[in-house]
Amino acid sequence: MNFFPEEKWIDWVDQLSENDYVVIDNFLSPELYQVVRKFLLQRLEEDEFKRAGLGSVFNNQLDTSIRGDFTYWLDKDRDITLSPAFELIEEIKFTLNRFCFLSLSGYEFHLAHYPAGTFYKRHVDQFQDRSNRMISVIIYLNEGWKHGDGGELKIYKDEEELLIDPIAGRCVMFKSADVPHEVMKTNVGRYSLTGWMLYQPSGVGYLLG
Ligand code: OGA
Ligand code: NI
Repeated sequence: MNFFPEEKWIDWVDQLSENDYVVIDNFLSPELYQVVRKFLLQRLEEDEFKRAGLGSVFNNQLDTSIRGDFTYWLDKDRDITLSPAFELIEEIKFTLNRFCFLSLSGYEFHLAHYPAGTFYKRHVDQFQDRSNRMISVIIYLNEGWKHGDGGELKIYKDEEELLIDPIAGRCVMFKSADVPHEVMKTNVGRYSLTGWMLYQPSGVGYLLG
């Protein structure tokens, strides 16, 4: 355990098991936050984000009435500036395997940008023809987010609807197959590091764009 002590992980993993989701504030240290945020701004500056699709590489559709985000798929070997973030992701994988007996063998992550006016309608994070996403992980990168900015994550849980503010450094994890969720319309640019812990490595995730 490098980033967080075992007792913290046990608490978070308990919540994830019990409630199907967990919200963790200050998941990124201020230093790591700056590394990721700076990297994201550079990718934006160089126009490297692509409109996100629906479905897998075999069944990809673009439909802005369902989702309006742009993504930059990460590659551990290419995006070496983000090595400390990948170490944290490895710690998530290790911990979930250890305490949840999940047999996660890989992950896929992208940076996401929702321009003002965009959203992602209610969905679950699994593709019809590829169901190896086990745990969704979203880390928000929105400095100075305030009420009225929108872009909250809405989680549907039994009869309840929970609204989670996408504030900087906050991490949300949930069971990919079990938790319907939606991104409310954002009124400002909305940024995150988003990914999925996989039962088997995908190999094709970054092709989705
Ligand atoms: C997704 C998603 C939620 C969020 O990318 O599948 O639901 O809060 N993201 O960004
Ligand atoms: Ni989703």
